[in-house]
Amino acid sequence: MTTLDEARDWDATDPLRKFRARFALPDGIIYLDGNSLGALPHATAARLGDAVAREWGEGLIRSWNDAGWAEAPRRVGAKIARLIGAAEDEVVVADSTSVNLYKLLMAAAADRDGAIVVEADGFPTDAYVARAVATQLSRPFRVIPAADLAGAFTDDVSAAVVTHVDYRTAARHDLAALTGAARAQGARIVWDLSHSVGAVPLDLGRDGVELAVGCGYKYLNGGPGAPAFLYVARHLQARLASPIAGWWGHAAPFDFTADFRPSIDIGRFQAGTPPVLGLLALEIGVDLMLEADRHAIWAKACRLYDLFAERLRACCPGLALIGPTDAGQRGSHAAFRHPHAVEIVRAAIAKGVIGDFRTPDIARFGLTPLTLRYEDIWQAVEILGETIASEAWRDERFARGGVVT
Ligand SMILES: Cc1ncc(COP(=O)(O)O)c(C=O)c1O
Repeated sequence: MTTLDEARDWDATDPLRKFRARFALPDGIIYLDGNSLGALPHATAARLGDAVAREWGEGLIRSWNDAGWAEAPRRVGAKIARLIGAAEDEVVVADSTSVNLYKLLMAAAADRDGAIVVEADGFPTDAYVARAVATQLSRPFRVIPAADLAGAFTDDVSAAVVTHVDYRTAARHDLAALTGAARAQGARIVWDLSHSVGAVPLDLGRDGVELAVGCGYKYLNGGPGAPAFLYVARHLQARLASPIAGWWGHAAPFDFTADFRPSIDIGRFQAGTPPVLGLLALEIGVDLMLEADRHAIWAKACRLYDLFAERLRACCPGLALIGPTDAGQRGSHAAFRHPHAVEIVRAAIAKGVIGDFRTPDIARFGLTPLTLRYEDIWQAVEILGETIASEAWRDERFARGGVVT
């Protein structure tokens, strides 16, 4: 059984220990929700302050050229590419994950006739968007249980959306195997990497991935509502067309031509004017991730998970983590089921342990190696155990919460 002193010893020799000081983490809080909204890097406030006061305030419109605003979607995209094993010209930052999903799924579906496939119990936006695409293109729509996805790629399938890491259980699909199964039948998967990027090892190029999207505000620490990214493998960029022919996807937006002529490269998947302030904040988070050793991040995520699981067994008898135990088959969060999970999460938040609740009965805790210490996990599960054992969650304060869980 790991003691608190042992956990502190692990922290003292943790190769990533210096990163924690780069984030604003309030005293008295153990933040286990970096998989939903990443913590604030200290550098972000200064960068945004400068972007607002100097680049916008003084540079005014000149900053589109002079401060590199116009290049920011590709520049930050190229940095994200390094995190996901893509070439630098295969990623661009734009819009939200949902909108990017729509653009890429429509593009893939328009390129090949056939059914649209989505996994059952994936992230809801994935299914909503996929169903809308099927309706708009009058295509058959198939909802397939996650375990049966490999067999779902028959020769009458056009395109699919698959969430790489399950937002509830943290179960992780085999990116290479499913991509191979789809490609063998000529179908294309749009991967949703929202719970993967910055969390689990990714090598899209090696795994033959053709299309992907992902969030900027979770493990990338880009801030609330940070813009998302999209990835299109180079061999598809000139072939696929975005359904939103916006001027920022034009080959030469400032020619102001009457006809839409799409950019020849990844730029065609942009739509409107990029959200510059959000992009600059995201860039800080991505730069921090790039500074850290990828292998060290995943190794620490696994050890944080193991400690969480061990402590849960010790502090919360009868409870166990859900999802795969094999590290190769899961993402970077821990979750358990409890009929009163929502109240337990609220009561734990009141004691400074911030996790989140996912319907119907899941308490979820993000394991973010740059901001968390082993000591934090040790203490957090202790507090969860006390909350459950004392039934403190029964207090009527915890019967109701806000709109966002
Ligand atoms: C797996 C997954 N996909 C998509 C989204 C939604 O992304 P956005 O709000 O950028 O559309 C989320 C949000 O939590 C998510 O977890």
